[in-house]
This record gives sequence, C-alpha cells and structure tokens, in this order.
Amino acid sequence: MSNRTFTMIKPDATRKGDTGAILDQIIKAGFAIKAMKWTKLTKEQAGLFYDIHRERPFYGELVDFMSSGPIVAAILEKDNAVADFRTLIGATNPEQAAEGTIRKRFAASVGENAVHGSDSDENAAIEGNFFFSSLERF
Ligand code: RTP
Ligand code: MG
Repeated sequence: MSNRTFTMIKPDATRKGDTGAILDQIIKAGFAIKAMKWTKLTKEQAGLFYDIHRERPFYGELVDFMSSGPIVAAILEKDNAVADFRTLIGATNPEQAAEGTIRKRFAASVGENAVHGSDSDENAAIEGNFFFSSLERF
C-alpha cells in the first residue's frame, strides 16, 4: 500500500471552471498536495501518457481531448492513496459513478470525465515522474 497517487483535472473540468471546486473536494477528503501544476499537454505528450490504451478504439479521441485545453497535474498523499482516490472520483462512466463522487458531480460522459486517478502504486510513481522533477515536490 502506497501513500501517494497522481491526478489530473482534465480539460473539460478546467474549461467549465470546476478546478477550484474539485481541488476543494480532494483536499477535504484528506489528500495533501505534494506537487501541482497548471499546464497543457501536446498531442504527443497525451499520447505517451495514455500509451497503455494505444490499441483501444477510443485512443485517438482520448488524445485529442486530453490535449484540447489546460489541465492541472498533481501528486497527492494520504494513507491508501491510490484506492481511496479511485473511490473519491467514482466510476469511469459518470452515469455509473456513486452519488457525491467527483465524476458524478462534474463529469459529462465516459470520454470527458473531469479527472484522472492512477490505477496502481506503480503507475502512480510513473505518472508523477512524467510531470514532476524531485525539485517540484514538497
Ligand atoms: P483515468 O485513467 O483517466 O483515470 O480513467 P479510468 O482509469 O477510470 O479509465 P481507463 O480505462 O484508464 O480509461 C482512460 C480514459 O479514457 C477515456 N475513455 N473513453 N469512449 C470510451 O469508451 C472511453 N473509455 C475510456 C476516459 O477519459 C477514461 O478516463
Ligand atoms: Mg486509467
């Protein structure tokens, strides 16, 4: 069990002005911010980040969407961070997400679903390293 996970607030949410409300929910749920930046992915960077989904039918759409506007990337700390954060964000498809979860509150569709959350300790480390150097974590 690791105490860190990685998240992105996706372009649909930054576009709609939901960044502050989502960060508020994350912090109130007990996650501490260890690194954070407002940035925008190129298509190439979005493609690399989601490389694991390269063969999936939605990959092109996903890369276009994730590079379509600014995102917030962050490393979060809490006991049992990966699993607890996945619970906080809810199911990939907001229609199936539990009441009160971030995706239920802020996501419009399975493709544009407001937030990313790492799915394992290993990927949390890889994804955090994708965005942040050791000098950007406090
Ligand atoms: P994420 O990686 O972004 O936290 O999402 P997840 O684990 O809940 O879902 P995953 O299976 O890893 O899919 C990554 C992202 O791809 C988009 N997607 N679109 N159109 C579709 O059927 C479809 N399926 C997945 C979503 O943006 C999803 O979050
Ligand atoms: Mg995933």
